[in-house]
Amino acid sequence: MTTSSVAEAPITSSTPAAAVSEVVYFDGRYVAKSEVHVSPDDRGFLLGDGIYEVAAAYDGRFVALDRHMDRLRRSLVEARIDGDVADPLETVFQELLDRNGFGESGKAMVYLQVTRGVAPRTHAFPKSHPRPTVYAYAASFAAMGDLAAGVGAITRPDIRWSRCDIKVISLIANCMANQEAKEAGAFEAILIRDGVALEGTHTSFFAVVGDVVRTAPLSNLILPGITRELVIEAAERDGIRVVLEPLSVDELQSADEMFITGTTTEVVPIVTLDGNPVKSGSPGEMTKRLMQLYRDAIRV
Ligand SMILES: Cc1ncc(COP(=O)(O)O)c(C=O)c1O
Repeated sequence: MTTSSVAEAPITSSTPAAAVSEVVYFDGRYVAKSEVHVSPDDRGFLLGDGIYEVAAAYDGRFVALDRHMDRLRRSLVEARIDGDVADPLETVFQELLDRNGFGESGKAMVYLQVTRGVAPRTHAFPKSHPRPTVYAYAASFAAMGDLAAGVGAITRPDIRWSRCDIKVISLIANCMANQEAKEAGAFEAILIRDGVALEGTHTSFFAVVGDVVRTAPLSNLILPGITRELVIEAAERDGIRVVLEPLSVDELQSADEMFITGTTTEVVPIVTLDGNPVKSGSPGEMTKRLMQLYRDAIRV
């Protein structure tokens, strides 16, 4: 473990979980957030040249951390960022929980990002091979119950690039669409490309048609959501048929149920789409069943 500049004053697991962590990981050290200084020449800042990962922990236990770590490593490989950082990244996730009082109880997430590092601005990767900048923090996140009554969603054209399978920090297209959702009084924008609904700006998208659960198949056009994967597995274990085929815009109008999934969003029903109620306008039976199956799968 790299020595910590705040080792003398960690926030211990008996400290009540704070909304925003005090101890963060930066440049190979655990430091107070106020001590972090990111260079203006960081390629994450100048070019959005980096990747990130988010994992959730319940009462100190991460959900599917191995899958998050696999996706993180894959993002690094696909983005051609050298992921050989000072500490094993799994350790950073666990340390941040523990040092911020989330080690034993409550719901918390750890966000970790890696950029290609600090170098004079060029489009091509710097020849100097700078050390990647690694920044991570822990924070609590809202209870699943908060959104269980369902949320509104809008549809928007998917104007993102075509490597949506890499969890890159360049999220401006996602931010713009989500802002439009917020301005429309909705929670999420469902992104439409080539006439089909792919995913949300920060969530995976599912619909229920009859007794079949549908979602887009994995491809370069969606993020391989870990929650999506856990929900599909839980559904199939319970005998629910899942078909990996996206809904067309036409099918969206008649779908029986819709929901979104994500590490911190969990499983949330969509009860209105573009201002119109989805069927009865309240969470459907299949969605409620899957919410419970997901809870059981992660044991909360
Ligand atoms: C575009 C996009 N799709 C889906 C997801 C859900 O992925 P996960 O379940 O791994 O959190 C996210 C999460 O950030 C996302 O950004």
